[in-house]
Amino acid sequence: MTTTLITNIGELVTNDPEAEDLLGLVQDAALVVEGSRIAWTGRAADAPDADERVDLGGRAVVPGFVDSHSHLVFAGDRAQEFAARMAGTPYAAGGIRTTVAATRAATDEQLTSHVARLVEEMRRQGTTTVEIKSGYGLTVKDEARSLAVARQFTEETTYLGAHVVPDGDPGEYVDLVTGPMLDAAREHARWIDVFCERGAFDADQARAILGAGAGAGLRGRLHANQLGYGDGVRLAAELGLLAVDHCTYLADEDVDALRDSGTIATLLPGVEFSTRQPYPDARRLIDAGVRVAIASDCNPGSCFTSSVPLCIALAVREMGMTPAEAVHAATYRGAEALDRDDVGALVVGRRADLAVLDAPTHVHLAYRPGVPLVVQTWIAGRPG
Ligand code: NIG
Ligand code: FE
Repeated sequence: MTTTLITNIGELVTNDPEAEDLLGLVQDAALVVEGSRIAWTGRAADAPDADERVDLGGRAVVPGFVDSHSHLVFAGDRAQEFAARMAGTPYAAGGIRTTVAATRAATDEQLTSHVARLVEEMRRQGTTTVEIKSGYGLTVKDEARSLAVARQFTEETTYLGAHVVPDGDPGEYVDLVTGPMLDAAREHARWIDVFCERGAFDADQARAILGAGAGAGLRGRLHANQLGYGDGVRLAAELGLLAVDHCTYLADEDVDALRDSGTIATLLPGVEFSTRQPYPDARRLIDAGVRVAIASDCNPGSCFTSSVPLCIALAVREMGMTPAEAVHAATYRGAEALDRDDVGALVVGRRADLAVLDAPTHVHLAYRPGVPLVVQTWIAGRPG
């Protein structure tokens, strides 16, 4: 197998869990890629020989971002809804139905090329693993095809038939989501998610839907406590879910429940930026011993950004995280939130997924917000 030495790395973020510092930083570093995997990391001066050599001229390297929450399968956009929001109309879950109508009207080819464009947009900004949800089809056929489209781009697909009740009786819709829709979705999905919020699904409905999903072999995740206080986060902790996402409004009992269950809180700061809601308090969670991940939540309604670097900058500026914590949350914790031990760190044996920054340190991701610092993204040992 061909080996490639990537050297003259000014600062390497390894996320090595054995290191004393959170990011496992190595200055004046190098790494060796063998095929798709990392074969060696360390000081450039100690690097072994390799078949090929790439000199990064002192740039920083971080693990590729692991974006554990996105809704990329949709058609249309909601720019006018965003403009109205910036003029004072609050965000509400019901806007999802606008996208549902556009998504149902789109062809498979249109949906696929749209996802391809967004995944490429993410890759250019350093994202190397992305989770993609359905949730804008909300019929048996449209949920199944949304997931089939998503599957072309990632193994991390999530069935979100329980995004909102599209029309009719909510009880009948839950029966559909836990019955024929689940049967059609399960072969294309790894995860099942529910939007547990006023205006969407309550905790009892979420419990029933996640229970049916578990019976079909899908692991649960939840959207919870985004628009107000509620039972969703405590339900996630009670069920021992790996991650619960949003966590904007948390009571002390919610924080305690997350700490005790070990459930990861995935925070989505692009949403608060795009809805003008208060930001979740990452500092409070981390200080309480809760693991915090950051993801984009890229979707046409509450947050139409594909940029993890933007989310890192917001997390540092608005949520009390240090730059190191935010970078770790968008890489290592993102991988944990997807139960992946092959990505999220640049240590021997993991996939060679990395982002090269036109900057001397990872700190610039927060220090230089809005600047396109990612100059190269490698996935599975190949530069893109
Ligand atoms: O994660 N909260 C629910 N779902 C998306 C928004 C969906 C939409 O507004 O279209 C979210 O924020
Ligand atoms: Fe979401």
